Amino acid sequence: MEVAEGLTRILRAQGDGRGDLIAILQEVQAEFGYLPKEAMLGVAKFLQIPESLVYSVATFYNQFRITPLGRRPIKVCMGTACHLSGGELVLEAVQRELDVDLGGLTSDGEFSLDRVACIGCCAIAPAMVIGDAVYPKMTPWKVVEVLTTIKSEIQEANKGD
Ligand code: FES
Repeated sequence: MEVAEGLTRILRAQGDGRGDLIAILQEVQAEFGYLPKEAMLGVAKFLQIPESLVYSVATFYNQFRITPLGRRPIKVCMGTACHLSGGELVLEAVQRELDVDLGGLTSDGEFSLDRVACIGCCAIAPAMVIGDAVYPKMTPWKVVEVLTTIKSEIQEANKGD
């Protein structure tokens, strides 16, 4: 969907009131999967606040991302059970293996990386999700294994193109 079109619908729903910045940004992210620059500028204009304020809020809160999702979005669970059982090490391993920042996107657009709160499978902590697949009891070594396998599958698939 066009950013302008989706944003207009979101802002129109705010009515006459100027609305709440965070609530609007949440709606924009729900619509596009991230906060496109064009949308952030539009929100600033709508709320009559500086663009820099919208950008600061967007980058301050973990819930927002300012880069698009990858074709295979990775979410590392940082709920209590996962955090206590090594979630941070899992997250660092993904960052290292893919050379991607938290909230970022790999240069080929394949993977994006986010941390999330409990995904409801604490019995298999620490857990990681790639696309729709949940990976249980992750370790840094398992991260390397899983990502190496997926990268080879991508290479194979690209050969056929
Ligand atoms: S804390 Fe990670 S699945 Fe619950």
